[in-house]
Amino acid sequence: MYVLQAENVTKVYGGRLEVNSNNALNGISLNIEDGEFTAIMGPSGSGKTTLLNILSGIDEATRGKIKIMGKDITKFTRDEMAIFRRENLGIISQDFNLLDDLTLEENAVLPLFIKDDSSENVKDRVEELFKFFNIWEQRNKYPHNVSGGQQQRAAACRALITNPKIVMADEPTGNLDSKASTKFMKYMQMINENRNSTIIMVTHDSYAASFCKRVLFIKDGKMYTEIRKKEGKEDFFNRILDCLAIIGGEVDEV
Ligand SMILES: Nc1ncnc2c1ncn2[C@@H]1O[C@H](COP(=O)(O)OP(=O)(O)OP(=O)(O)O)[C@@H](O)[C@H]1O
Ligand SMILES: [Mg+2]
Repeated sequence: MYVLQAENVTKVYGGRLEVNSNNALNGISLNIEDGEFTAIMGPSGSGKTTLLNILSGIDEATRGKIKIMGKDITKFTRDEMAIFRRENLGIISQDFNLLDDLTLEENAVLPLFIKDDSSENVKDRVEELFKFFNIWEQRNKYPHNVSGGQQQRAAACRALITNPKIVMADEPTGNLDSKASTKFMKYMQMINENRNSTIIMVTHDSYAASFCKRVLFIKDGKMYTEIRKKEGKEDFFNRILDCLAIIGGEVDEV
């Protein structure tokens, strides 16, 4: 069963839609099955954030269709989209999107209060996540008083606290050192395997991508190619590097 289907998604910021031109997205189609663990890679400016924002309903496609769990999200009103997102998606955005006036802990538990799920073991849940991601000591600090990596991990906790069916993350390890990055990917792997969470993450990091089971490569707003991890022993990491070498661009400079 497909949990997400995108058909011919095109995005033009501002100006007019032109066929075969330099739109941010030029007709991207993709299907994601329930329980898939997918990375999206591509050069800077290739449209990864634009795609993820459209798939998560944060931004609107200029053209194209997006179905999530069988529902056409392009037909949702703003409010319907907000509710759907809150109930089904865990989103980690590239710029974290933490609220400045709330502590890291308050930021992280916010989705539960909005969802009115404040009753049972919120405290345990936040403690477990914050301790796992090594930001428990920072829980009472405000975003501007902690490092970028700590903000990023708090944003991850906020996205994960509701145990979302689908996780969509934009460069979730971009500000993390290799140890924290590995920890984050192991957590993704755990929820993918144990809870069958569907994960879609944008990343520049080949090592992080190698934890995934499938990598989509996009270039100039178009789907370029994709690879899947095979069963048994194989060097998925090197296959990812090979694809990046072919696709070119500034992928490895970030
Ligand atoms: N709000 C915006 N208004 C106008 N153009 C935009 C806007 N956001 C992105 N773009 C343009 O759309 C294209 C795709 O941008 P996008 O942010 O999706 O790239 P990306 O692949 O996420 O890049 P990066 O790896 O640097 O994060 C780029 O050419 C970018 O300049
Ligand atoms: Mg981006």
